[in-house]
This record gives sequence, structure tokens and C-alpha cells, in this order.
Amino acid sequence: MLILGIETSCDETGVALYDSERGLLADALFSQIDLHRIYGGVVPELASRDHVKRMIPLVREVFERAGVPHGEVDGVAYTAGPGLVGALLVGGAFARALSFAWGVPALGVHHMEGHLLAPMLEERPPAFPFVALLVSGGHTQLVEVTGIGEYRLLGESLDDAAGEAFDKTAKLMGLRYPGGPEIARLAEQGTPGRFLFPRPMTDRPGLDFSFSGLKTFTLNTWQACVAEGDDSEQTRADIALAFEQAVVETLTIKCRRALKATGLKRLVIAGGVSANRRLRQSLEKMAAGLNGELFYARPQFCTDNGAMIAYAGCRRLMAGQQDEGGLSPRARWPL
Ligand code: KG4
Ligand code: ZN
Repeated sequence: MLILGIETSCDETGVALYDSERGLLADALFSQIDLHRIYGGVVPELASRDHVKRMIPLVREVFERAGVPHGEVDGVAYTAGPGLVGALLVGGAFARALSFAWGVPALGVHHMEGHLLAPMLEERPPAFPFVALLVSGGHTQLVEVTGIGEYRLLGESLDDAAGEAFDKTAKLMGLRYPGGPEIARLAEQGTPGRFLFPRPMTDRPGLDFSFSGLKTFTLNTWQACVAEGDDSEQTRADIALAFEQAVVETLTIKCRRALKATGLKRLVIAGGVSANRRLRQSLEKMAAGLNGELFYARPQFCTDNGAMIAYAGCRRLMAGQQDEGGLSPRARWPL
């Protein structure tokens, strides 16, 4: 089954062709980061307008790169939520129109299921069952996964998502959007041990997270340094490192707990923050200590992309699912 996947939940237009026999045939992405950067975050209206502009050229591009005649697919999958409603409407309306014109089924896919299954696109995909840590700009969740669509929520953030904490922390120190990669880059120059940040909610049982206090802690630390006349690049780097270490260690402690609580050996990380090198190293070490294994996608499939939507859509369309009735994007949608 050959599926066209379309992702437009936020500020990335992603399009891909995935074939159940041959794997990923082509994927193309347009990132709107430069468009939103001057505003310090995503402007929903601008995001929707830009998705409209990019859609047709990107769809053309994947068919041409895959060497597949336009429209010769067995279905169209698109992100139906969660995300920005205007942005979701663009991808959804376009996908539904294509499915209507080509006479093939369409299916709205859950964005976080896309992320969750992205590591399946790699050479060494994880086998079910596994524990998944979903860490993106909008979500931080620990999920027990026993199959496609078989998800049990083990814990989640009670306030900010991990990626959101990276973005907000970066912003308050005057760094560019998106903050995750900026903090990670800056942290490379950080002095270990200069600052020690808390590991929120690790001193009590449970698998929930809270990252908003960490952001406030960073703000207070940064402001205290600035008040003393120290707003140097080195101090920014030292704070970035302390922040990153705190997030990474907190996530590692909870993942370890989740593996122990479920008795599972495989840990999958997905979503934008799973591109973080320090997080991967820390989880790799922790998993090895439990005789377990860590799985993740290549960096460009950790952040938003069309390939993960094509893949998730393909698995579900093959199982006989398809859209019935009208188009209804969902800003919020539990996994
Ligand atoms: O999955 P994603 O592309 O979009 C959402 O579904 O939200 O995740 C974007 C998030 C942003 O908050 C970004 O700062 C974060 O992922 N991110 C990172 C890194 N790369 C992206 N955070 C930490 N380290 C990174 N290397
Ligand atoms: Zn995402």
C-alpha cells in the first residue's frame, strides 16, 4: 500500500510517500522557523498561510523524487490534531480534496502517534511492547505501547512540556526560537558544576512531570547574574548546561522508573526533544544498566515531518480504517 502523508500541525509543512513493501520513498519538508523567529514563537495565522503556499510544490516534489506518477497512491494520511486549528485545516482540507479527486481513502492521524511510530522508519525498528517517552514542544508523556493504537498513559507533564521549557528558557536569556537546539548548542560551552538546578518531582513516587518551576529557577538565576553585571555568553552557557542537565536527568529518572514498573526492556524516545544528544546518551546508559535498549529516529524525523504521518497512516489504512463524514481537526486530542 502506497500512502501520501501530510503534516501541517504547527510550523513545518511535511509531505512524504511511504510504501508498506518498499518503505519510505520520498519525504520533503519546509520549515517556517525563519518566518516566526522575529516574533519569538509561532504566529498561527502566518503558519496557516504559509502551509497553503508550500503544499502543492511539496506534493509535486515527493512524487517526482519517488518516481511515482502523480496521484498513484492507495490513500492519503494527514495530521488531524493536536495542533493549531488553522494549520491543521490547511493540511486536512488539502488531503481530503486529493483523496476525493483520486478516489482513494483519507485518514486523519494523531500527530503524537506519528512521533511515537517515527523510530519504525529506521533500520533497526523497535518491536512491541515498549515504553515510549514522547517529548515535543506540546507534550511530555510516558506511554506503555503494546501495539498500534494500544497505548496506556503512564505519566505526563502537569504543566509545561519539555520542549516548551527549552523554548521558554531560551527566550528569557535572549536566545533564538526554537530554544531546544540553541540551549543544546550553548550548553556545549558550559562549565559543569557552576550551577545546580532542581530535578522536579523526582523525590516522590509516580511518573508525572513538571517543568514550569525549572523555567522560573532559570529566570531567577539569570536575573541574579544580570543584577551583578554578569550577562556574559559564558554565564548563558553555564545556565544552559545546568538547565539541560536538569531536564535530562529528570527524564532519565522517570524513564528508569517506567521501565522498572512495567518490566519492559525497550525504551523508545520520540518528538523534537528526542533529538537532544545529551538526552540520548543519558538514556542509552540508563537502559544498558537495566539490560534494556534505547530506540530513536534520525534527527530530522524527531521533529515534525511528513514521513511519520505517512507511516502511521499506512499502518491504520492497512488495518481498514478511513475517514467518514466531514473534516474535523482537533486542537486537543488525547492519544
Ligand atoms: O516534535 P516537535 O518538532 O513539535 C511538536 O510536536 O511540538 O518538537 C519541537 C520541540 C521544540 O520545543 C524544540 O525546542 C525542541 O523540540 N527541540 C529540542 C531539540 N531539537 C528540537 N530540544 C532539545 N534539544 C534539541 N536538540
Ligand atoms: Zn510534533
